[in-house]
Amino acid sequence: MPITDTITPAGTYYRPAAPARVATRRRLLMCRPRHYDVTYSINPWMNPQLATDNALAVRQWEGLRDLYLDLGHVVEEIDPLDGLPDMVFAANGATVVDGRVYGARFRHAERTAEGPAYLRWLEGRGYKDVLWPEYVNEGEGDFLTVGRRILAGTGFRTDPRSHLEAQEFLGLPVTSLTLVNPDYYHLDTALAVLSDDEVMYYPAAFSPGSQAVLRAMFPSAILASAEDAAVFGLNAFSDGRHVLLPAAATGLHAQLRARGFEPVGVELSELLKAGGSVKCCTLELRDR
Ligand code: ARG
Repeated sequence: MPITDTITPAGTYYRPAAPARVATRRRLLMCRPRHYDVTYSINPWMNPQLATDNALAVRQWEGLRDLYLDLGHVVEEIDPLDGLPDMVFAANGATVVDGRVYGARFRHAERTAEGPAYLRWLEGRGYKDVLWPEYVNEGEGDFLTVGRRILAGTGFRTDPRSHLEAQEFLGLPVTSLTLVNPDYYHLDTALAVLSDDEVMYYPAAFSPGSQAVLRAMFPSAILASAEDAAVFGLNAFSDGRHVLLPAAATGLHAQLRARGFEPVGVELSELLKAGGSVKCCTLELRDR
């Protein structure tokens, strides 16, 4: 028994059921959904025929932003641009690791202008180490940092050649993962980072080879049910203790609690109409 274990007054050993979780303050970039709408369809969730409620989208988004602020995080905002209804999904704007900015290059023409918009904002904030990318990649939608390594998705949006481009520029090992289900078109819709060495994911969203890679890297990961994945439960943000995720992903809430995390349910139904939720709205500015 390690000497760090707590000894109760009675002299018996007490081992907490789950590790104590420690939150660390994060710097986040968000984009108010002022021009949010579903006017085109580039993923199976988007149906331009269905009505969206912009005022409700803004209120729900403000709820998420206020949660971050209440938890002590720093939230920066980039001005939304007219004609870019998906710009609210800040996660796609870039990948920022150790203060280095690997820019995004979008797959679809409808979102192309977002790449330079985010890069200019970041350059304006003083980031000097900035790479305007050669290959298509959709930022933190497909690049997720786990401690000192990066998981990178491909299959629908991000060109696998960008994985090597990112590895070379960011100087961290990048592991490629192939997505196979169009409902989970970005890595951050099928996998969430919980701590420096823990993730949760939906296995069926990945190719058999990538499922084997994930099992090898994270043998005790939380595995999501099809139901929790379908309500975007994996599109989550963790500060190491609090995990913000869609309220409807009740199975994941219970699994997270059992591991000592504090799940916080968020309602972002309007943004789900574009195929996005908590994590999509959040770009983490990982400075050195
Ligand atoms: N409508 C957007 C698209 O299809 C949603 C992006 C969601 N963002 C994300 N990080 N998964 O590109």
